[in-house]
Amino acid sequence: MGFYYLRDKFSPMRFFLITLLLHSLVIAQPVNKEKVWSPDRSIELSFWVSAGKPHYSVCFQNQVLLGSSGLGLQFSNQPAVGYNMEITEVKQSAFNEVWTPVWGSSSQIRNEYHLAVFCLKENQQPYRQLHIEFRVYNDGVAFRYVFPDAQSDSLLIISENSEFRFARNDSVWWIPSDEFAYESLYRHTTLSDVHDANTPFTVVTPQYCISIHEAALLDYSEMVLQQDSSDSLCFRSRLWPWPDGVCVRAKAPFHSPWRSIMITRTPGELMQSHLIQNLNEPCAISDISWIKPVQFVGIWWGMHTGLYTWHAGPKHGATTRRTKQYIDFAASNNIGGVLAEGWNRGWETWAYDVVPRQDFCKAYPDFNLKKVVAYAQKNQVEFISHHETGGNIPEYERQLDSAMKLCYDNGIHYLKTGYAGPILPQGMHHHGQYMVRHFQHVVETAAKYHINLDVHESIKPTGLDRTWPNLMTQEAVRGNEWNATYRATPPYHSTILPFTRLLAGPADNTPGIFHINYNPAANKRLYCTQTHQAAMYIVNYSPMVMFADLPENYEHDMMFSFLTEIPLSWDETTVPLADPGNYVCVARRSDSLWYVGALADENCYLLKIPMTFLSDSIDYTAEITFDSDITDWELNPDIHCFTFCRLNKSDTLFLALSKAGGFIMKIEPYHYAPNEPSRLPVRSFNSMATRLMMRFEAQKTYGNNHVAHAAVGAKVTQLQPYSGKYPASGNNAVCDGITGSFNFSDGSWQGYEGNGMEAIVELPSETSIGTVSATFLYSPNDWIFMPSSVDVYISADGVQYTLVQHQDIPDQRPADEKIMDIRSVIARFETTKVRFIKVVAASTGTCPEWHYARGQKSWIFIDEIVVTE
Ligand code: NOJ
Ligand code: CA
Repeated sequence: MGFYYLRDKFSPMRFFLITLLLHSLVIAQPVNKEKVWSPDRSIELSFWVSAGKPHYSVCFQNQVLLGSSGLGLQFSNQPAVGYNMEITEVKQSAFNEVWTPVWGSSSQIRNEYHLAVFCLKENQQPYRQLHIEFRVYNDGVAFRYVFPDAQSDSLLIISENSEFRFARNDSVWWIPSDEFAYESLYRHTTLSDVHDANTPFTVVTPQYCISIHEAALLDYSEMVLQQDSSDSLCFRSRLWPWPDGVCVRAKAPFHSPWRSIMITRTPGELMQSHLIQNLNEPCAISDISWIKPVQFVGIWWGMHTGLYTWHAGPKHGATTRRTKQYIDFAASNNIGGVLAEGWNRGWETWAYDVVPRQDFCKAYPDFNLKKVVAYAQKNQVEFISHHETGGNIPEYERQLDSAMKLCYDNGIHYLKTGYAGPILPQGMHHHGQYMVRHFQHVVETAAKYHINLDVHESIKPTGLDRTWPNLMTQEAVRGNEWNATYRATPPYHSTILPFTRLLAGPADNTPGIFHINYNPAANKRLYCTQTHQAAMYIVNYSPMVMFADLPENYEHDMMFSFLTEIPLSWDETTVPLADPGNYVCVARRSDSLWYVGALADENCYLLKIPMTFLSDSIDYTAEITFDSDITDWELNPDIHCFTFCRLNKSDTLFLALSKAGGFIMKIEPYHYAPNEPSRLPVRSFNSMATRLMMRFEAQKTYGNNHVAHAAVGAKVTQLQPYSGKYPASGNNAVCDGITGSFNFSDGSWQGYEGNGMEAIVELPSETSIGTVSATFLYSPNDWIFMPSSVDVYISADGVQYTLVQHQDIPDQRPADEKIMDIRSVIARFETTKVRFIKVVAASTGTCPEWHYARGQKSWIFIDEIVVTE
């Protein structure tokens, strides 16, 4: 009573201070630690309450991985929970089952753990109860908060303070917590250099791997990790608020999603873990006959590369005619589905300054839905529909039922959805509770209408596909569409995804662009080989998977037909070799067939793959497609070669991956057949691979554009802030001797948002120089413009500067706003002895009047300041 009476007078902050005060008055007592071990005893969880606050820590193979980490939550309508608590009961039990997923990377999944429920109660008013439930698996630990008491009030959570206090400052692969709907490039830094990050958040060391994520994210906000201000190795869970500051609105009895800590010896074991799925409920759909994995082609890349448009008009992509051609192509190539984006009305509103409002029940006049679907059915191809909400949630929810019913009535079983645009209603965060509810509502409505989903710009996966296997795949990843821009994906990215994003669940990263150097005139291309794209079909797993290129680029392609035969659900997955950030090699089995694939970052590798995963005393034939002696990501990316090889379990097969290359192979038990191709002995194959390596080592390395000049390695002082949004930003990047390329994701460019650059380059000693050039990126479509002027000064002492050149650069509207150019401003002057050079590049500040983002902050990008005699 008293508590409820006082409640309104107290702000959460006051409660917090009072609890802190009480907390410091408690006299230290010996702490009794409860311990729970994983079934194989490799992981040890400790749980205790000290000074009224619950804590946990985690050891792996007797080594502390997470030290003392506190637990608790704060509310806007009651005091924080997690103080003044004592353990009233500990309920321990064990669980062990094997379950069969509807589709997946293994056909049998063991779900075995030790469970401990720590029942806590406040030792003073208001005597609330909180249960913290821990599961300890052989491959990790998970916990969640349970509010067992029915409460008359709702729980208005304003923050969750689950801590993850790392014991060592290891390196971690991560992306920022809120950037491009999870489509960032992964960063690799020490833990102390991470300010805030999304999950999966993966630490890889030679002794252990740790990946933090969450599971069963339902009716809650997603969790991100926020570095603690006083301990750079401690990360706290942070939630996204509704517009009123409340992060989660709940009503007890209630439990939070699981906070998961995957722990394995090797990176390969991370990939084999089913921890996230195991933390979800069993399948909630009783009739699963309509849930079937599918490969598909789609009217898609044509729009991204500007060949077609989504909206109707002379370049309209999704016409009845074109969709039928795609269906013909699918039918004659063993492809199960055809996606058509832009079939429905309303794409004109999918732009920057209008509210996106599409009609998901009405087709454009040149697209006849009934005819297209009938044609697809006649050809035994699934028509895959598409709903691009543009982020307008109220509008989509209004149409959801009728739009899904339209699919059902027409026999459409697959749907791709999209949320490309700012979320409406304004103020709702893409990763907050409102959107988590929305995404789940769509999944359940789709299940009702027997629709399998591929959700783009989705919330990150958290294993809900176990419960709702119609949620086949999700984006939340940087896919090939980025390769249609000047922010193409560097090759290392695909060697990281299996250890980060893909631990969360399947991804539609739209693989299979085969025409790698597809637009040389515009300097647009992919930065890898065709084999690298092909290997994604084996290295990554998704039950709904696209062949993203234009059908004409697959026509009569042997590697393409090989890929169309790949099983879409596997009995077993193993990882023979993996080094995140460098290469990854995965083997997957369906019955007695094995498929093995590998891909490389910008370097080349000779992989020595032990065939120990094969069965004893069976003679196997491997059909291998690999990088040939003329494969070269830069000059000849579409070329590869092919051979048969004789293999058995005791062999070690050598495979040479070219720079940014890959390979794929099928291994099957040998059966004699007349006229069969001859099989190479492993020895011969291996010596060929060793020879190939010598060629690959001589290839140019992606991103390695060296230029020698007098200022390489000089000290650079930046007088204006540059943006940390680009992974490569760093004081010295402008004078590191590496020049930026057309792909400005490559880590060499430095970007300034809204302001100019002013840098002082200090040469190691006085040097005679006569030219200084500064190179800028010009890409209006990315809001990157030339500076409005560039000034170059020189100085002998760093005090007295002489202006040697001032150049104004007038703004001009380009004929094509999608143009990208690299432009240098060169100052030539009489050769002088100098020590200091100052370059001042003024920014236009905002995008110009003629630009679609007029008035918004513009960028300048610079690399490199080249200094010569
Ligand atoms: C972004 C999606 O990721 C892409 O696949 C789609 O083509 C466009 N939005 C249009 O919906
Ligand atoms: Ca540079």
